[in-house]
Amino acid sequence: MNRSSQPPVPRVTRSTGGRLTEPAERLDSVPGPYGKQRRKQTDSALAQDLSQMSMSGQDTLNNSPSASAVKSSSRGGLASVARLVKLGRCKNVVVVAGAGVSTASGIPDFRTPGTGLYANLEKYNIPYPEAIFNIDYFSNDPQPFFSLAKALYPGSHRPNYIHYFIRMLHHKGLLLRVYTQNIDGLEKLCGIPDDKLVEAHGSFATAACHLCYTAYPAEEAKQAIMNDKVPICTFCAATVKPDIVFFGEDLPQKYFLNTQDFPKADLLIIMGTSLQIEPFASLVNTVRSTVPRLLLNRNAVGPFEKVPLRRADHMELGDLEETVRRFAEMLGWNDDIEELMRSQETLSLPTLISSPLSVDQTSCQSRGAPAGTETSRSRAGGQRGASSGSEETDSETDSKSSESSSQST
Ligand code: OAD
Repeated sequence: MNRSSQPPVPRVTRSTGGRLTEPAERLDSVPGPYGKQRRKQTDSALAQDLSQMSMSGQDTLNNSPSASAVKSSSRGGLASVARLVKLGRCKNVVVVAGAGVSTASGIPDFRTPGTGLYANLEKYNIPYPEAIFNIDYFSNDPQPFFSLAKALYPGSHRPNYIHYFIRMLHHKGLLLRVYTQNIDGLEKLCGIPDDKLVEAHGSFATAACHLCYTAYPAEEAKQAIMNDKVPICTFCAATVKPDIVFFGEDLPQKYFLNTQDFPKADLLIIMGTSLQIEPFASLVNTVRSTVPRLLLNRNAVGPFEKVPLRRADHMELGDLEETVRRFAEMLGWNDDIEELMRSQETLSLPTLISSPLSVDQTSCQSRGAPAGTETSRSRAGGQRGASSGSEETDSETDSKSSESSSQST
C-alpha cells in the first residue's frame, strides 16, 4: 500500500494525559547510539482534536478515584447490558479491543507491570520501551524490532473465548465492527470477516518499505526476519517492515470507518485496553452520549476512571475471559460459543492461518446447514454448527456490511 499518496490520517501517539512520558520527547532527549534523531510531527489535525478530547478527559485522571470506588457506581454492569441486548435494543454493536483480549491466548499485553511486554525489553537495550515500535527509531536501527518480531509473528497462538464471543456477536447479526489495536491476527483467525474488522494498528499480513511504502511480499519479509536478515525494498533499498503501525505512522485508511460506525453504534463494548494510545483511545468518546458503553477490563480506564460515570456507562472489572463467559451465559450464548470453539479446535493452527478466505466462505455457506454439524473452515460447504434457525446468519450480516467494506482499503 503506497501510503504516501493518501490523504493525511491520524498517526499513532501516546495519550497526552501526562501519566506516561511521550516517546517522541524522550527520543529527542536521549542522544543514544542512534545518530541524529528527527523529531516528527506525529499528530495530524484529526489526531490533535482527538488528543485534546482525551486530554480534557484525562485531567480528571490525576485525581482519579480507586477502581473499587468507580465500580460501585457501575449500575449493574453486565446484567443491564445483557438485558438491553436481549430486548433487541443493541443491533449495531461496536467493539473496541486491546491486548487484554489476547492474554488468555498466552500473549502478554503491553503495560501490565511485571508481565507486560514493555516491562520485559531489557535485552533489546533501547532507551524507553515504546522505542521498539517507534518509526524513527526503527529507521535508525531496525534490529530490536526485528528480534522481537520473531516472537510476535502470528503462528503459535490460538483465539480464545473472548475472540469467539466477538465472532458470536457477528454471527447473531449484531456486530457493526470490531476495532482492534492488536497485531496478533487472532480476530481474523477466529473467523471474524475482514469487512467486520478494523486492525487499527495494522498486522503482519502485509509488508512494505518503511520509507516509500512500496509493497513487499509478506512471506518473504517474514522469512528474512526469521533468518536474521533485513528485508530490503526493491524500489529504494530502504528497510522493509511488516505493516504494523508504529508510533509516528499513519493509521490504515480502514480506520476511517470509525466516522460512520461510532455515530451509528447503539452499544460500545470496550475490552482489554488501557486506552493510552491516540488516536484510538478517543474513539470511545465518539459514540452518542446516550449510547451504553460497557467496559470489560481488569481496571477502570479512560473515561471510566471518572466519577460519576456517564449515565449510560457500565463496567465490569476483573479477568476478561471470566467476565465475558458470564456475559455470554446471561445472553444464553455460551453453548453456541463452546460449540464454535470445539469446531475450530479440530483444525491445526497452520490450517487456520493458511485459509483465512475459507473463514468467510464458511460464514456465507452456513445458511441452512443443520445445527450441530462440525465445521471445517478449510472446506467449502462447512458450517459452524452454532446457528439457530431464528437467528440472522453471518451471510445476512455480511450483506449488511457490504457497503462499508467497499470503502475499506
Ligand atoms: P495495554 O497493555 O496498554 O492495556 C491492556 C489492558 O488490558 C490493561 O488495562 C490491562 O489491565 C488489561 N488486561 C490485560 N489482561 C487482562 C485480563 N486477563 N483480564 C482483564 N483485563 C486485562 O494494551 P493496549 O491498550 O492494547 O501500540 O495497548 C495499546 C497499544 O499500545 C498497542 O496497540 C501498542 C501499544 O504500544 C502500538 O504498538 C502502536
